[in-house]
Amino acid sequence: MSTQVILPRIMQVGENASLEIASVLVSLGCNRPLIITDKMMVQLGYARRIQESLGAHNISAHVFDDTVPEPTVKSIQAGVEKAREGNYDCIIALGGGSPIDSAKAIAILAKHGGVMQDYRFPRMVIEQGLPVIAVPTTAGTGSEVTRFTIITDETTDEKMLCVGIGFMPVAALVDFKLTISLPPRITADTGIDALTHAIEAYVSKKANAYSDSQAIAAIKLLGPNLRKAYHDGGDQQAREAMMLGSTLAGIAFSNASVALVHGMSRPIGAFFHVPHGLSNAMLLPSVTAYSIPAAPARYADCARAMGIATEQDSNELANQKLLTELSAINDELAVPTPEKFGIKRDEFFEACQTMAEQALASGSPGNNPIEPSISDIIQIYQGLWH
Ligand SMILES: [Fe+2]
Repeated sequence: MSTQVILPRIMQVGENASLEIASVLVSLGCNRPLIITDKMMVQLGYARRIQESLGAHNISAHVFDDTVPEPTVKSIQAGVEKAREGNYDCIIALGGGSPIDSAKAIAILAKHGGVMQDYRFPRMVIEQGLPVIAVPTTAGTGSEVTRFTIITDETTDEKMLCVGIGFMPVAALVDFKLTISLPPRITADTGIDALTHAIEAYVSKKANAYSDSQAIAAIKLLGPNLRKAYHDGGDQQAREAMMLGSTLAGIAFSNASVALVHGMSRPIGAFFHVPHGLSNAMLLPSVTAYSIPAAPARYADCARAMGIATEQDSNELANQKLLTELSAINDELAVPTPEKFGIKRDEFFEACQTMAEQALASGSPGNNPIEPSISDIIQIYQGLWH
Protein backbone atom coordinates (compact mmCIF):
# COMPACT_ATOMS: atom_id res chain seq x y z
CA MET A 1 0.00 0.00 0.00
CA SER A 2 1.23 3.49 -0.77
CA THR A 3 0.52 6.89 0.73
CA GLN A 4 -0.05 10.16 -1.05
CA VAL A 5 1.99 12.92 0.61
CA ILE A 6 0.98 16.53 0.06
CA LEU A 7 3.36 19.37 0.92
CA PRO A 8 3.94 23.03 0.02
CA ARG A 9 6.09 23.52 -3.08
CA ILE A 10 8.57 25.71 -1.19
CA MET A 11 9.56 25.65 2.47
CA GLN A 12 11.97 28.32 3.65
CA VAL A 13 13.08 27.20 7.10
CA GLY A 14 15.28 28.80 9.74
CA GLU A 15 16.37 32.10 11.24
CA ASN A 16 14.97 35.09 9.30
CA ALA A 17 13.28 32.86 6.73
CA SER A 18 10.43 35.38 6.60
CA LEU A 19 12.78 38.01 5.17
CA GLU A 20 13.13 35.84 2.05
CA ILE A 21 9.52 36.53 1.14
CA ALA A 22 10.37 38.44 -2.05
CA SER A 23 12.57 35.69 -3.49
CA VAL A 24 9.89 33.12 -2.66
CA LEU A 25 7.28 35.18 -4.51
CA VAL A 26 9.59 35.54 -7.49
CA SER A 27 10.15 31.76 -7.54
CA LEU A 28 6.39 31.32 -7.69
CA GLY A 29 5.97 33.91 -10.43
CA CYS A 30 3.83 36.12 -8.17
CA ASN A 31 4.14 39.87 -7.74
CA ARG A 32 0.76 41.25 -6.61
CA PRO A 33 0.28 39.89 -3.09
CA LEU A 34 -2.42 40.65 -0.55
CA ILE A 35 -1.24 40.22 3.04
CA ILE A 36 -3.95 38.65 5.21
CA THR A 37 -3.27 39.05 8.91
CA ASP A 38 -4.66 40.48 12.15
CA LYS A 39 -4.36 43.75 14.06
CA MET A 40 -1.74 42.35 16.43
CA MET A 41 0.64 41.55 13.56
CA VAL A 42 0.23 45.10 12.29
CA GLN A 43 0.78 46.52 15.78
CA LEU A 44 3.91 44.44 16.33
CA GLY A 45 5.32 45.71 13.04
CA TYR A 46 5.42 42.23 11.46
CA ALA A 47 3.19 43.23 8.55
CA ARG A 48 5.32 46.31 7.87
CA ARG A 49 8.51 44.23 7.89
CA ILE A 50 7.03 41.92 5.25
CA GLN A 51 5.98 44.96 3.21
CA GLU A 52 9.48 46.41 3.50
CA SER A 53 11.13 43.15 2.43
CA LEU A 54 8.85 43.10 -0.59
CA GLY A 55 9.34 46.82 -1.25
CA ALA A 56 13.10 46.32 -1.52
CA HIS A 57 12.30 44.17 -4.55
CA ASN A 58 9.74 46.63 -5.95
CA ILE A 59 6.77 44.52 -4.90
CA SER A 60 4.00 46.42 -3.13
CA ALA A 61 1.44 44.69 -0.94
CA HIS A 62 -1.89 45.72 0.53
CA VAL A 63 -2.82 44.55 4.01
CA PHE A 64 -6.14 43.07 5.15
CA ASP A 65 -5.95 42.88 8.95
CA ASP A 66 -9.55 42.06 9.89
CA THR A 67 -9.14 38.35 10.59
CA VAL A 68 -10.30 37.23 14.04
CA PRO A 69 -9.33 34.43 16.42
CA GLU A 70 -11.29 31.22 15.72
CA PRO A 71 -12.56 32.54 12.35
CA THR A 72 -16.23 32.34 11.44
CA VAL A 73 -18.11 32.20 8.14
CA LYS A 74 -19.03 35.86 8.60
CA SER A 75 -15.56 37.02 9.67
CA ILE A 76 -13.93 35.90 6.43
CA GLN A 77 -16.52 37.57 4.16
CA ALA A 78 -14.84 41.00 4.15
CA GLY A 79 -11.58 39.27 3.27
CA VAL A 80 -13.22 37.51 0.33
CA GLU A 81 -14.46 40.85 -0.99
CA LYS A 82 -11.07 42.48 -0.49
CA ALA A 83 -9.31 39.62 -2.32
CA ARG A 84 -11.78 39.89 -5.21
CA GLU A 85 -11.66 43.63 -5.71
CA GLY A 86 -7.88 43.89 -6.07
CA ASN A 87 -6.06 42.23 -8.92
CA TYR A 88 -4.08 40.01 -6.53
CA ASP A 89 -2.15 37.01 -7.75
CA CYS A 90 -1.37 35.51 -4.34
CA ILE A 91 -2.09 35.79 -0.63
CA ILE A 92 0.53 36.11 2.09
CA ALA A 93 -0.99 34.63 5.27
CA LEU A 94 0.78 36.15 8.26
CA GLY A 95 0.07 35.23 11.88
CA GLY A 96 -1.01 32.35 14.07
CA GLY A 97 -3.40 29.61 13.04
CA SER A 98 -6.43 31.87 12.76
CA PRO A 99 -5.11 34.30 10.12
CA ILE A 100 -3.63 31.40 8.14
CA ASP A 101 -6.87 29.39 8.33
CA SER A 102 -8.81 32.52 7.35
CA ALA A 103 -6.49 33.15 4.40
CA LYS A 104 -6.89 29.58 3.13
CA ALA A 105 -10.68 29.91 3.19
CA ILE A 106 -10.57 33.38 1.58
CA ALA A 107 -8.22 32.09 -1.16
CA ILE A 108 -10.75 29.44 -2.19
CA LEU A 109 -13.92 31.53 -1.85
CA ALA A 110 -12.42 34.52 -3.69
CA LYS A 111 -11.70 32.38 -6.70
CA HIS A 112 -14.49 29.80 -6.71
CA GLY A 113 -17.38 31.52 -4.94
CA GLY A 114 -20.05 29.83 -2.85
CA VAL A 115 -20.12 29.76 0.94
CA MET A 116 -17.79 27.98 3.33
CA GLN A 117 -20.43 25.40 4.24
CA ASP A 118 -20.16 24.13 0.63
CA TYR A 119 -16.54 23.16 1.24
CA ARG A 120 -16.85 21.32 4.56
CA PHE A 121 -15.73 17.73 5.15
CA PRO A 122 -16.43 15.12 3.71
CA ARG A 123 -16.07 17.10 0.48
CA MET A 124 -12.49 16.96 -0.77
CA VAL A 125 -11.56 20.44 -1.98
CA ILE A 126 -9.35 19.94 -5.01
CA GLU A 127 -9.99 23.39 -6.51
CA GLN A 128 -6.94 25.65 -6.58
CA GLY A 129 -7.62 29.02 -4.98
CA LEU A 130 -5.29 32.00 -5.00
CA PRO A 131 -1.84 30.68 -4.04
CA VAL A 132 -1.22 31.07 -0.30
CA ILE A 133 2.24 31.81 1.09
CA ALA A 134 2.04 31.10 4.82
CA VAL A 135 4.22 32.86 7.39
CA PRO A 136 3.40 31.44 10.84
CA THR A 137 4.13 33.54 13.92
CA THR A 138 3.29 30.85 16.47
CA ALA A 139 4.80 27.40 16.89
CA GLY A 140 1.65 25.35 17.08
CA THR A 141 -1.08 24.94 14.51
CA GLY A 142 1.12 23.75 11.67
CA SER A 143 -1.47 25.36 9.37
CA GLU A 144 1.36 26.48 7.08
CA VAL A 145 1.82 22.86 5.95
CA THR A 146 -1.65 21.32 6.27
CA ARG A 147 -4.43 20.69 3.79
CA PHE A 148 -7.01 21.72 6.37
CA THR A 149 -8.79 24.80 7.52
CA ILE A 150 -11.26 25.19 10.36
CA ILE A 151 -14.02 27.79 10.06
CA THR A 152 -16.83 28.13 12.61
CA ASP A 153 -20.41 28.19 11.37
CA GLU A 154 -21.78 30.74 13.82
CA THR A 155 -25.38 29.74 13.09
CA THR A 156 -24.80 26.27 14.57
CA ASP A 157 -21.70 26.91 16.72
CA GLU A 158 -19.94 24.22 14.76
CA LYS A 159 -16.26 24.26 13.89
CA MET A 160 -16.32 23.02 10.31
CA LEU A 161 -13.35 20.99 9.21
CA CYS A 162 -12.52 21.66 5.56
CA VAL A 163 -10.08 19.34 3.82
CA GLY A 164 -8.26 19.06 0.52
CA ILE A 165 -5.20 19.93 -1.51
CA GLY A 166 -6.92 23.25 -2.27
CA PHE A 167 -6.11 24.37 1.27
CA MET A 168 -2.40 23.50 1.11
CA PRO A 169 -0.24 26.63 1.00
CA VAL A 170 2.12 26.77 -1.98
CA ALA A 171 4.88 28.04 0.29
CA ALA A 172 5.66 28.16 4.00
CA LEU A 173 8.23 30.49 5.55
CA VAL A 174 9.10 28.97 8.90
CA ASP A 175 10.96 31.58 10.91
CA PHE A 176 11.34 31.02 14.67
CA LYS A 177 12.42 34.66 15.08
CA LEU A 178 8.76 35.62 14.71
CA THR A 179 7.90 33.62 17.85
CA ILE A 180 10.46 35.17 20.22
CA SER A 181 8.05 37.77 21.62
CA LEU A 182 5.09 35.40 22.08
CA PRO A 183 3.75 35.56 25.65
CA PRO A 184 3.97 32.41 27.82
CA ARG A 185 0.24 31.61 27.62
CA ILE A 186 0.21 31.50 23.80
CA THR A 187 3.55 29.68 23.78
CA ALA A 188 2.04 27.00 26.02
CA ASP A 189 -1.28 26.63 24.21
CA THR A 190 0.20 26.50 20.74
CA GLY A 191 3.09 24.28 21.86
CA ILE A 192 0.75 21.70 23.40
CA ASP A 193 -1.33 21.85 20.21
CA ALA A 194 1.78 20.95 18.21
CA LEU A 195 2.66 18.10 20.57
CA THR A 196 -0.92 16.84 20.26
CA HIS A 197 -0.66 16.91 16.45
CA ALA A 198 2.48 14.80 16.55
CA ILE A 199 1.13 12.24 19.05
CA GLU A 200 -2.23 11.97 17.30
CA ALA A 201 -0.61 11.58 13.88
CA TYR A 202 1.58 8.81 15.28
CA VAL A 203 -1.27 6.84 16.87
CA SER A 204 -3.76 7.60 14.07
CA LYS A 205 -5.21 4.69 12.10
CA LYS A 206 -4.08 6.60 9.02
CA ALA A 207 -0.46 6.73 10.21
CA ASN A 208 2.08 5.63 7.61
CA ALA A 209 5.85 5.31 7.37
CA TYR A 210 6.19 8.87 6.09
CA SER A 211 3.97 10.53 8.71
CA ASP A 212 5.60 8.40 11.44
CA SER A 213 9.05 9.73 10.57
CA GLN A 214 7.79 13.32 10.73
CA ALA A 215 5.79 12.74 13.92
CA ILE A 216 8.67 11.16 15.85
CA ALA A 217 11.07 13.90 14.71
CA ALA A 218 8.51 16.48 15.85
CA ILE A 219 8.03 14.87 19.27
CA LYS A 220 11.80 14.77 19.79
CA LEU A 221 11.96 18.51 19.17
CA LEU A 222 8.80 19.51 21.05
CA GLY A 223 8.97 17.30 24.15
CA PRO A 224 12.21 18.63 25.65
CA ASN A 225 11.65 22.27 24.58
CA LEU A 226 8.06 23.05 25.48
CA ARG A 227 8.81 23.99 29.10
CA LYS A 228 11.97 25.89 28.13
CA ALA A 229 10.15 28.08 25.59
CA TYR A 230 7.34 28.68 28.11
CA HIS A 231 9.64 29.75 30.94
CA ASP A 232 12.15 31.70 28.83
CA GLY A 233 10.71 33.05 25.61
CA GLY A 234 14.13 34.44 24.66
CA ASP A 235 15.68 30.95 24.53
CA GLN A 236 16.47 30.90 20.81
CA GLN A 237 17.40 27.22 20.68
CA ALA A 238 14.13 26.23 22.33
CA ARG A 239 12.16 28.55 20.05
CA GLU A 240 13.87 27.14 16.97
CA ALA A 241 13.15 23.57 18.07
CA MET A 242 9.50 24.39 18.82
CA MET A 243 9.02 26.11 15.45
CA LEU A 244 10.52 23.27 13.41
CA GLY A 245 8.76 20.70 15.61
CA SER A 246 5.46 22.44 15.02
CA THR A 247 5.92 22.40 11.25
CA LEU A 248 6.97 18.73 11.21
CA ALA A 249 3.98 17.89 13.41
CA GLY A 250 1.79 19.75 10.91
CA ILE A 251 3.24 17.70 8.06
CA ALA A 252 2.65 14.53 10.09
CA PHE A 253 -1.00 15.15 10.84
CA SER A 254 -1.79 16.63 7.44
CA ASN A 255 -0.72 13.27 6.00
CA ALA A 256 -2.14 11.01 8.72
CA SER A 257 -4.97 13.00 10.34
CA VAL A 258 -5.54 13.89 13.95
CA ALA A 259 -7.76 11.76 16.17
CA LEU A 260 -9.97 11.90 19.23
CA VAL A 261 -8.34 14.82 21.08
CA HIS A 262 -8.97 17.14 18.13
CA GLY A 263 -12.38 15.69 17.44
CA MET A 264 -13.46 16.48 21.01
CA SER A 265 -11.52 19.72 21.26
CA ARG A 266 -13.22 21.60 18.41
CA PRO A 267 -16.72 21.50 19.98
CA ILE A 268 -15.36 22.78 23.32
CA GLY A 269 -13.79 25.64 21.41
CA ALA A 270 -16.94 26.39 19.45
CA PHE A 271 -19.33 26.21 22.42
CA PHE A 272 -17.24 27.81 25.15
CA HIS A 273 -14.68 29.88 23.21
CA VAL A 274 -11.72 28.05 24.66
CA PRO A 275 -8.57 28.65 22.54
CA HIS A 276 -7.79 25.60 20.42
CA GLY A 277 -4.51 24.62 22.07
CA LEU A 278 -6.01 24.99 25.52
CA SER A 279 -8.97 22.70 24.86
CA ASN A 280 -6.53 20.15 23.41
CA ALA A 281 -4.41 20.42 26.54
CA MET A 282 -7.45 19.87 28.77
CA LEU A 283 -8.27 16.68 26.86
CA LEU A 284 -4.85 15.22 26.06
CA PRO A 285 -4.20 13.35 29.36
CA SER A 286 -7.62 11.69 29.60
CA VAL A 287 -7.97 10.86 25.90
CA THR A 288 -4.46 9.36 26.00
CA ALA A 289 -5.38 7.26 29.03
CA TYR A 290 -8.53 6.08 27.22
CA SER A 291 -6.65 5.20 24.02
CA ILE A 292 -3.44 3.58 25.30
CA PRO A 293 -4.92 0.05 25.66
CA ALA A 294 -5.48 -0.10 21.88
CA ALA A 295 -2.00 1.10 20.90
CA PRO A 296 0.38 0.60 23.83
CA ALA A 297 3.52 0.25 21.70
CA ARG A 298 2.73 3.40 19.72
CA TYR A 299 2.17 5.55 22.81
CA ALA A 300 5.32 4.09 24.39
CA ASP A 301 7.27 5.23 21.31
CA CYS A 302 5.91 8.73 21.92
CA ALA A 303 7.11 8.65 25.54
CA ARG A 304 10.58 7.56 24.42
CA ALA A 305 10.70 10.26 21.72
CA MET A 306 9.79 12.86 24.36
CA GLY A 307 12.82 11.70 26.32
CA ILE A 308 10.83 10.68 29.38
CA ALA A 309 11.15 6.89 28.94
CA THR A 310 14.13 4.77 27.95
CA GLU A 311 14.50 2.02 25.38
CA GLN A 312 14.79 -0.40 28.31
CA ASP A 313 11.46 0.62 29.83
CA SER A 314 8.58 -1.74 29.11
CA ASN A 315 5.73 -0.28 27.07
CA GLU A 316 3.61 -0.34 30.18
CA LEU A 317 6.11 1.67 32.21
CA ALA A 318 6.69 4.08 29.31
CA ASN A 319 2.95 4.68 29.08
CA GLN A 320 2.68 5.33 32.81
CA LYS A 321 5.46 7.88 32.41
CA LEU A 322 3.66 9.41 29.44
CA LEU A 323 0.45 9.96 31.41
CA THR A 324 2.40 11.42 34.33
CA GLU A 325 4.28 13.73 31.97
CA LEU A 326 1.18 15.00 30.15
CA SER A 327 -0.43 15.94 33.47
CA ALA A 328 2.83 17.48 34.71
CA ILE A 329 3.06 19.62 31.55
CA ASN A 330 -0.48 20.87 32.12
CA ASP A 331 0.35 21.74 35.72
CA GLU A 332 3.61 23.45 34.92
CA LEU A 333 2.16 25.36 31.96
CA ALA A 334 -0.85 26.43 34.05
CA VAL A 335 -3.49 24.82 31.83
CA PRO A 336 -6.83 25.47 33.54
CA THR A 337 -9.59 22.92 34.00
CA PRO A 338 -12.86 23.82 32.22
CA GLU A 339 -14.09 25.03 35.60
CA LYS A 340 -11.07 27.26 36.23
CA PHE A 341 -11.41 28.58 32.68
CA GLY A 342 -14.82 29.88 33.74
CA ILE A 343 -17.17 27.41 32.09
CA LYS A 344 -20.39 26.72 34.00
CA ARG A 345 -20.73 23.07 34.95
CA ASP A 346 -24.41 22.68 34.03
CA GLU A 347 -23.94 24.47 30.70
CA PHE A 348 -21.06 22.13 29.89
CA PHE A 349 -22.97 19.00 30.88
CA GLU A 350 -25.99 20.17 28.89
CA ALA A 351 -23.82 20.61 25.79
CA CYS A 352 -22.08 17.21 26.11
CA GLN A 353 -24.52 15.30 23.89
CA THR A 354 -24.32 17.83 21.03
CA MET A 355 -20.56 18.21 21.43
CA ALA A 356 -20.16 14.43 21.25
CA GLU A 357 -22.29 14.27 18.10
CA GLN A 358 -20.25 17.05 16.47
CA ALA A 359 -17.01 15.37 17.53
CA LEU A 360 -18.04 12.11 15.84
CA ALA A 361 -19.34 13.89 12.74
CA SER A 362 -15.96 15.60 12.23
CA GLY A 363 -14.48 12.21 11.35
CA SER A 364 -11.39 12.65 13.55
CA PRO A 365 -12.45 10.15 16.27
CA GLY A 366 -12.64 7.49 13.54
CA ASN A 367 -8.82 7.69 13.28
CA ASN A 368 -8.34 7.02 16.99
CA PRO A 369 -6.77 3.71 18.09
CA ILE A 370 -10.07 2.98 19.87
CA GLU A 371 -13.13 4.23 18.01
CA PRO A 372 -15.27 5.74 20.71
CA SER A 373 -19.05 5.57 21.01
CA ILE A 374 -21.10 8.65 21.78
CA SER A 375 -21.32 7.60 25.41
CA ASP A 376 -17.54 7.08 25.64
CA ILE A 377 -17.06 10.64 24.41
CA ILE A 378 -19.62 12.03 26.84
CA GLN A 379 -17.91 10.18 29.65
CA ILE A 380 -14.53 11.69 28.76
CA TYR A 381 -16.07 15.18 28.58
CA GLN A 382 -17.68 14.73 31.96
CA GLY A 383 -14.46 13.30 33.37
CA LEU A 384 -12.83 16.70 32.86
CA TRP A 385 -14.84 17.82 35.90
CA HIS A 386 -13.64 15.19 38.35
FE1 LIG B 1 -4.59 21.46 16.49
